[in-house]
Amino acid sequence: MKALVVYDSAYGNTEAIAKAIGGACQAIVLRVGEVKPDHLEGLDFLIVGSPTQAFQSLPSVKAFLKNLPAGSIKGVKVASFDTRVDVKQVGNRFLTFLVRLFGYAAEPIMSALVKKGGVCAGEPIGFIVSDKEGPLLDGEIERAIQWTTALVG
Ligand SMILES: Cc1cc2nc3c(=O)[nH]c(=O)nc-3n(C[C@H](O)[C@H](O)[C@H](O)COP(=O)(O)O)c2cc1C
Repeated sequence: MKALVVYDSAYGNTEAIAKAIGGACQAIVLRVGEVKPDHLEGLDFLIVGSPTQAFQSLPSVKAFLKNLPAGSIKGVKVASFDTRVDVKQVGNRFLTFLVRLFGYAAEPIMSALVKKGGVCAGEPIGFIVSDKEGPLLDGEIERAIQWTTALVG
């Protein structure tokens, strides 16, 4: 099985999750800027992740998704993840309202992948950082590994 994990990361937390996911499914793990057309050839599984910033994925991840050549992931199983803060911990009611309204990065990543012909392999997932720059909460790396194992089988 050829699997590819594509991510971007501002402070390293999404990178750590991407590497854990890649390790759990023997995938190639690349930052968005490193992906070449060859990497998409004969692909069985594509997993894309981004930090959530301003309720969305990073512009680099959006551009990667937008520029995926037509048909390049047709029929490929796809999954998405993000990293995010826990609004309950922040305890700001206005922020909670905005998050309910606008959500996180993983869902729009999945929509974009499906629009490009990917086949949704599982629910988008978010991994929690304790603050803007991290670190990831305890257990999130293990949760990423479990998620991957359930996803890929
Ligand atoms: C400019 C900025 C905007 C952010 N906006 C959100 C947000 O809308 N929702 C959220 O849950 N976290 C938000 N965060 C926290 C990021 O999700 C957090 O920095 C990220 O998960 C860390 O991952 P990284 O180390 O891979 O960059 C924001 C962080 C920054 C710097």
